[in-house]
Amino acid sequence: MAQLPEQLHLLPEPLLAWYGGAKRVLPWRDAPTAYHVWVSEIMLQQTRVSAVLPYYRRFLAALPDVEALAAEEEGALMKLWEGLGYYNRARNLQKAARLIVTEHGGRFPDTYEALLALPGIGEYTAGAIASIAFGRRVPAVDGNVLRVLARVTGDEGDILDGRVKARFREWLQTVLPVDRPGDFNQALMELGATVCLPNGAPRCGDCPLGALCRASADEGWRRLPVKRAKKERRVEERTVFVLLSPAGLALRRRGPSGLLAGLWELPNVEGTLDEDRAARQLDAWDLDAVEWIKQLTGKHIFTHVEWQMRGYVLRVRCGGSADLCWTDADRLGERAVPAAFGKFLKEGLELLEEKGTVEGS
Ligand code: ADE
Ligand code: SF4
Repeated sequence: MAQLPEQLHLLPEPLLAWYGGAKRVLPWRDAPTAYHVWVSEIMLQQTRVSAVLPYYRRFLAALPDVEALAAEEEGALMKLWEGLGYYNRARNLQKAARLIVTEHGGRFPDTYEALLALPGIGEYTAGAIASIAFGRRVPAVDGNVLRVLARVTGDEGDILDGRVKARFREWLQTVLPVDRPGDFNQALMELGATVCLPNGAPRCGDCPLGALCRASADEGWRRLPVKRAKKERRVEERTVFVLLSPAGLALRRRGPSGLLAGLWELPNVEGTLDEDRAARQLDAWDLDAVEWIKQLTGKHIFTHVEWQMRGYVLRVRCGGSADLCWTDADRLGERAVPAAFGKFLKEGLELLEEKGTVEGS
C-alpha cells in the first residue's frame, strides 16, 4: 500500500469532535435504518441535500419500507421520482428491493459484500449503508471525501482515476475508528459539503483539520483536488411539439431502452425544424393544425448529451397516429414526464387549464 500520510492518523479525533456539533439535522439521520440510509444515499448521488429533502419525505411517506417499494407499480414509482432525474436509480432501487424480499426474506443484507451485490449499489453506497446503518468498519468515498482527502494529504493524483480512489480507500480503512465508522464517514462528507467547499474558497478558518491540512497554507486548495478534463458532452438538437386538442395534450411513451426509457414525453423529433418542416412533421403524424400559438426554445443537460430544443405550441384537431396519447390535466398528474420537457409541458398545462378556449374539432 502507498504509505499512509502521517497526518491521517490525527484525522479522526478533531473530525468527530467537530461533527458532533456541526452536523446538519437531516431526516435520514433520525433513524438511520438501512432502508432510510439507502434511499437517501441514492437520491443524494446526483442531487444536492436541499433539493433531495422534499423528495425524500414524499418517497418515505408513500413507500415506508422495502416491501412497499418492492410492490409499487412502476408508473407510480416513476412519478415519485419525477424531477430527480436519472430514473435508472429508481428502477434499480426497486430491483434491489425485490431481491431483498425474495432472496433475503425481506431483511436488508448487513455486510459490505452482500450490499455491493445488489443492483445500483456501488462501493460508495455499500460503504455508506454498512457503516451508517450497521456499524461496519468500511469506508464510503464520494466526491466530497475525495476532495477533502486530496487537500488534507496534498495528494496530487487525479481523483477521477480509480487507482487514486483505491489508495484513499485503503488509507481510510487503516484509520477508521472502530466505534463510530458511520459518523466518521458522514463527518468527512459533511466537511466536504459544508466547509471544504468545491469551486471557490473553502472555509479553512472554520475547519477542524486546519492544523494538519497540507492545502490550507498558501491557498494550496486552489490546485487540489486534481481532476482530468471531462469528456465533452454531445449536443443534440431536437424539436418538441406541444400539441393540444379537445381531448388534451399529446404524450408519447418512450421506448424500453436508452435515455429516459419507458417514460412519457412530448412528441419530438431530431433536428431543429423550421415551420415548414414542422408542418410536414404534423402531416406525417396525420394531424391538422388549427392554430400555431407560439415558438419557444429550451435546453437540458444530461450526463453525456445536451439537448437544445425548439418547441412549437399549437392546437390541432383530434386524431393523429396511434402512438400519440391524448392526456387531460388529471391524467397528466399520473404520468412521469422528465424534467427535460418541463418548460414545454408547463406551456401545455397552462393552455390545457384555460378551459373553454379549446376549439372543437
Ligand atoms: N452526502 C451524501 N450522503 C451524505 C451523508 N450521509 N451525509 C452528508 N452528506 C452526504
Ligand atoms: Fe479543506 Fe481548508 Fe479544511 Fe484543508 S483546511 S480540509 S482545504 S477546509
